[in-house]
Amino acid sequence: MTSSRSAAMRVVEPEANQPAVGAAHGDSATIAEIGAGLLAPQAAVSPKYFYDGMGSKLFEAITELPEYYPTRTEAAIFAAHGADMAACTGPGMTLLDLGAGNCAKAASLFPLLQPKHYVPIDISRDFLNGAVERLRQRFPHIEMTPLALDLAGPFALPPEVGHERRQFFYPGSSIGNFTPREAVNFLRHVRENIGADGGLLIGVDLVKDHGVLNAAYDDAIGVTAAFNLNMLRHLNHLAGANFDVTLWRHIAFFNAAESRIEMHLEALEAQTVRWSGGERAFARGERIHTENSYKYTRESFTALLAEAGFRVDGVWTDAAEWFAVMHARVAE
Ligand code: AVJ
Repeated sequence: MTSSRSAAMRVVEPEANQPAVGAAHGDSATIAEIGAGLLAPQAAVSPKYFYDGMGSKLFEAITELPEYYPTRTEAAIFAAHGADMAACTGPGMTLLDLGAGNCAKAASLFPLLQPKHYVPIDISRDFLNGAVERLRQRFPHIEMTPLALDLAGPFALPPEVGHERRQFFYPGSSIGNFTPREAVNFLRHVRENIGADGGLLIGVDLVKDHGVLNAAYDDAIGVTAAFNLNMLRHLNHLAGANFDVTLWRHIAFFNAAESRIEMHLEALEAQTVRWSGGERAFARGERIHTENSYKYTRESFTALLAEAGFRVDGVWTDAAEWFAVMHARVAE
């Protein structure tokens, strides 16, 4: 904290804390999407904007927190049941890794899953290319085709993916960022790209004790708070906004009626935020909704997969049933 951030300074010169509207580095569609979200009656910004360089590092730090159980629980499930999963998927497939990031999770399963062709898919091409360069050294016998694709809408796979049996891999409970309705649509798009004899291996976070859920998204040392607040700096960069991160606080709670963790940023005092092409006055206590993370039961997720045209043929969990890895095939 610098002295210019003191309350006294703020009273004398209310605007002094707020950076001026700067250059916008996002493309016009990105700025328009962010602006529309900020202007909605309940302001909301997509969780995809968490992940600038700092955001990705903070997420990695989250996965190491004692409170954040999903990553290590899923890893333990893979470690304990990877061989069973491999028996379910069969060797020699094209493995399509959705939201691959640094490709580490899939790579740790290569010895078991034995893919012939690895297709990591992510929005960020730079990130992917670096990761794949390193993987090619370690696994020279696996063909690798990184794809930079936004998976938000229907997606078409390019011809390089080939026509070998396709196994989709979607770990980490990233599916939880979609509403159940969006998740069904997304999974339908996946199913349309699988072909008859392929499958989907997916990680799903399960409903559990609310105290455990709340702590996982509001950790004691504030890493998740930093992750949430960092989005404002990313918005400053992308949309040329002038958010002052010191004027907002992190909120996270389990909404049982919707079966989801909600994350919000709450204004600590009244302020006007400006960005390239827009502005909004926020009252003290007003919130920006930044993330939903839906939690399912084994049954509710099986039903959701069925709605998308999948039949579940494998479920693996930890002893406490905090997390599940499911395998599903295209239903006849
Ligand atoms: C990356 C979407 C799976 O929902 O648990 C972690 C993101 N947000 N802590 C999740 C997240 C706050 C994470 N996913």
